[in-house]
Amino acid sequence: MWQLLPPTALLLLVSADAQTADPLKAVVSLDPPWARVLEKDSVTLKCQGAHPPEGDVTQWYHNDSLIPNQASSYFIREVRAKDSGEYRCQTQLSTRSDPVQLDVHTGWLVLQALRWVFQEGEPIRLRCHSWKNNPVQKVSYLQDGKVKKFFHQNTDFVIPAAARSHSGTYYCRGLIGSKNMSSETVDLLVQGPASPSVVSSVLLPWHQVAFCLLMGLLFAVDTGLYFSMQRDFQSSQGHQDYALSWSQNSQSK
Ligand SMILES: *[C@@H]1O[C@H](CO)[C@@H](O)[C@H](O)[C@H]1NC(C)=O
Repeated sequence: MWQLLPPTALLLLVSADAQTADPLKAVVSLDPPWARVLEKDSVTLKCQGAHPPEGDVTQWYHNDSLIPNQASSYFIREVRAKDSGEYRCQTQLSTRSDPVQLDVHTGWLVLQALRWVFQEGEPIRLRCHSWKNNPVQKVSYLQDGKVKKFFHQNTDFVIPAAARSHSGTYYCRGLIGSKNMSSETVDLLVQGPASPSVVSSVLLPWHQVAFCLLMGLLFAVDTGLYFSMQRDFQSSQGHQDYALSWSQNSQSK
């Protein structure tokens, strides 16, 4: 039965993917979109999910406890450290969303990006955000301790096409007034293509490909099992026939 383990794992993968694509699941988004923010930034969490025409009561969860807000948006005028954590929402006709993480940092600078895992070839935009948007001058972006980009005025650092060599530990620093300030470091990961190039050339979403592979695999395993069982069966039949004819022969004597 151990041959069945890989297909089972694939099946789990496929069902996990189906779950993330669940159209009934609500979705939390951040506006502005940064998951890493500084104290006193304002953040709006938005809940997208189906609701009946006569109303849209939304339930919000912060670290799994229900919060009083019932509107489809949850606005925090000035975030504080205690607002950090996981947010989920649910509307009347949706299932509870996946969590969205908000991290409230204390300090003068924070490095922001839409996400920290990229595929090769995707653009990367890094932002050096300052506390209460204080002006920052002479901004450097560093990767693994080396300055990758310098701007006299605070400007986003854009990498037009991510390569694996862009993976690393990043931070930004700059002058706020006369003070030389640094952000905390963040790890950024650039991954290779998720599926073989054959797959993208036929323009199939990977989960369909995985499904076909899974079916093929199951078919192969089934066919293999069928033939080996048939062989076992035939060989045991053979023994029985032999035994039978032997006993008949011995009786006829
Ligand atoms: C800030 O400090 C670092 C090292 O401590 C230095 O290399 C850098 O030049 C300073 N930045 C500015 C803008 O002065």
